[in-house]
Amino acid sequence: MTALQFLLLALVAVTQVASATTVTYNDRALVIDGQRRIILSGSIHYPRSTPQMWPDLINKAKEGGLNTIETYVFWNGHEPRRRQYNFEGSYDIIRFFKEIQNAGMHAILRIGPYICGEWNYGGLPAWLRDIPGMQFRLHNAPFEREMETFTTLIVNKMKDVNMFAGQGGPIILAQIENEYGNIMGQLKNNQSASQYIHWCADMANKQEVGVPWIMCQQDNDVPHNVINTCNGFYCHDWFPNRTGIPKIWTENWTGWFKAWDKPDFHRSAEDIAFAVAMFFQKRGSVHNYYMYHGGTNFGRTSGGPYITTSYDYDAPLDEYGNIRQPKYGHLKDLHDLIRSMEKILVHGKYNDTSYGKNVTVTKYMYGGSSVCFINNQFVDRDMKVTLGGETHLVPAWSVSILPNCKTVAYNTAKIKTQTSVMVKKANSVEKEPETMRWSWMPENLKPFMTDHRGSFRQSQLLEQIATSTDQSDYLWYRTSLEHKGEGSYTLYVNTSGHEMYAFVNGRLVGQNHSADGAFVFQLQSPVKLHSGKNYVSLLSGTVGLKNYGPSFELVPAGIAGGPVKLVGTNGTAIDLTKSSWSYKSGLAGELRQIHLDKPGYKWQSHNGTIPVNRPFTWYKTTFEAPAGEEAVVVDLLGLNKGVAWVNGNSLGRYWPSYTAAEMPGCHVCDYRGKFIAEGDGIRCLTGCGEPAQRFYHVPRSFLRAGEPNTLILFEEAGGDPTRAAFHTVAVGPVCVAAVELGDDVTLSCGGHGRVVASVDVASFGVARGSCGAYKGGCESKAALKAFTDACVGRESCTVKYTAAFAGAGCQSGALTVQATCS
Ligand code: GAL
Repeated sequence: MTALQFLLLALVAVTQVASATTVTYNDRALVIDGQRRIILSGSIHYPRSTPQMWPDLINKAKEGGLNTIETYVFWNGHEPRRRQYNFEGSYDIIRFFKEIQNAGMHAILRIGPYICGEWNYGGLPAWLRDIPGMQFRLHNAPFEREMETFTTLIVNKMKDVNMFAGQGGPIILAQIENEYGNIMGQLKNNQSASQYIHWCADMANKQEVGVPWIMCQQDNDVPHNVINTCNGFYCHDWFPNRTGIPKIWTENWTGWFKAWDKPDFHRSAEDIAFAVAMFFQKRGSVHNYYMYHGGTNFGRTSGGPYITTSYDYDAPLDEYGNIRQPKYGHLKDLHDLIRSMEKILVHGKYNDTSYGKNVTVTKYMYGGSSVCFINNQFVDRDMKVTLGGETHLVPAWSVSILPNCKTVAYNTAKIKTQTSVMVKKANSVEKEPETMRWSWMPENLKPFMTDHRGSFRQSQLLEQIATSTDQSDYLWYRTSLEHKGEGSYTLYVNTSGHEMYAFVNGRLVGQNHSADGAFVFQLQSPVKLHSGKNYVSLLSGTVGLKNYGPSFELVPAGIAGGPVKLVGTNGTAIDLTKSSWSYKSGLAGELRQIHLDKPGYKWQSHNGTIPVNRPFTWYKTTFEAPAGEEAVVVDLLGLNKGVAWVNGNSLGRYWPSYTAAEMPGCHVCDYRGKFIAEGDGIRCLTGCGEPAQRFYHVPRSFLRAGEPNTLILFEEAGGDPTRAAFHTVAVGPVCVAAVELGDDVTLSCGGHGRVVASVDVASFGVARGSCGAYKGGCESKAALKAFTDACVGRESCTVKYTAAFAGAGCQSGALTVQATCS
């Protein structure tokens, strides 16, 4: 080595040491490089979007006032088969963390590797079950060995590229396991559970990652070497299990996940802001939104069963990565304010003063400055609170923040940000649906209708996950029986879910699926047997494996013991349960990889006509990619259930024929009061009685501009593909309401070249209707003119609400404005 080379190397080493960050903590905050910090973080799950989307999502999170990105690690995505790894494409976790680093943000690495997350099997690979003695998430060597192997692999991958803070990287916290406290609670003093969770903590600490390890929802039996944290809709009244550790909220649920049988959950911006403000009022200092961007369950990744392909979550960034307003902006205002008060909040002395039931004032004091929070936890009563001689009206279920303890800078119930209504626009480039030419191919069912060999035979009805190791949603069960003469029977199939198709002598005789949250159901169909040999072929399908609960690996799927019976009209029963059953995992078309549209496939089309409502059919069409940058979706209304691919990329399972339930919360929406996602009290639901999901995200990176793109569908239940159509998603109407004198009002059309086409309403009346359909009350010509002049033709505009707008004699002094973007 020359002296120069040595010097250079030494320099590199010095810079690395210089950029290394230390992460410690005390009872008030994480201490990063000796500074107590407030962490405002958001969950973005890398496989729920595409690498092309990551920089934009991360930058929007930063713009939204966050300084940290959090993600789980998706074991079964990374190790789909034992010791066969995938770190490509959407699973390129290193690239994802490098994007976080490039954005100058911190990262939280939640390895799990059990993650729950509405993800297939909670992230655990199904092949784990094939290992003898395996028990998920309990103290046993087979599980712990695999968990340690994977955890070590991820940690080493991160270390290799210097991703931990101590190496100069973005990762400031790491998580092991996930919400195990809930499981321990259900298992009641289970020794194996306790040993397991302590083993997890020790194993994690052995990894020497140089940053603290956290465990969420672990309030009892907390290992000494981890920080326990809170998950939920509210975490202000929760405190960690011991002193000396900061109050960390790992999951503030910004909405809720959607299931095929449920409407869409919405958690209001006011309520989330209330929860966040309460948390910081009560000494919180590390906060993460679950989810900040929910995204999409591409492929077969959704858990459940019954989690939809969309994982939008009503998050501040919508499924496609668009800013969801007013949620995004209302929370950004709060983040900016909280970060401006950082020093006082994490160092300050504090006192909480009760102003009677449900009202508390908290004052933080540091270095001669002070900040105050006033909360009003009444659900139905606005309160007047006098502080230092000033009286403040604090609306019900809200928190006011006064950065100098005198003037209110923010109230969680007062939204200053615009509401944006996203609209789906027909694709101008695409030919009309009728002119999209479709061709088709039948799924080859024949091998399973007759005596062709399956993979193997057994004289019992096997559990599906164990049989197919979840390599496909589908498992065939086939048997035959001799019958004398003709006979009418009812076929009964008892199954553990999730769906079932029954064929007798090659004819589809019935279908059914699990419902109402229960996996177990019975299929019943009238069938005719003929004289001689009869075939009974049953196709069982899963729609995402269970992701939650103790020992969920023991929850069966498929026919699993049956019974399967034929009961004659005269009561005679033929029990097929112990017959010789032949098995085959997967569909013929899956094996042939029809979705890759290889040359030589025999797609059929007779003058462009194709069969519709035909079960087990593959369809194909080509289309042009919509121009521009706006998000693309395909409307699959008219299809029934199946899987869709664009240019070989899976969009996920589709099921537009499933209708979301009508629930009490469909018709009431008030942000005031505790938000819950299950049971009584649910509110603000939309999409009740409508198809649970008709629009499916087609990420831009799946598309090729200026070339024909291929859409392939596998339709299992029979539907009409000719109605499928591509749309782009863009901001339509934008509105502001409850703007007060002196406020700056900003309207924005969300970029992508969209501009304000018209200002439709500027009114002082109490606004009626919702954004896009506001009916003005007391029009202000002056305001209308000011907004029209400033906004029309512009992507965004800001107008100050001045006294010149005043609408004399109007009921309310608050201004409502509605404009349309196009
Ligand atoms: C939590 C869990 C998350 C997710 C969430 C609901 O309990 O930790 O992974 O499942 O619930 O969306």
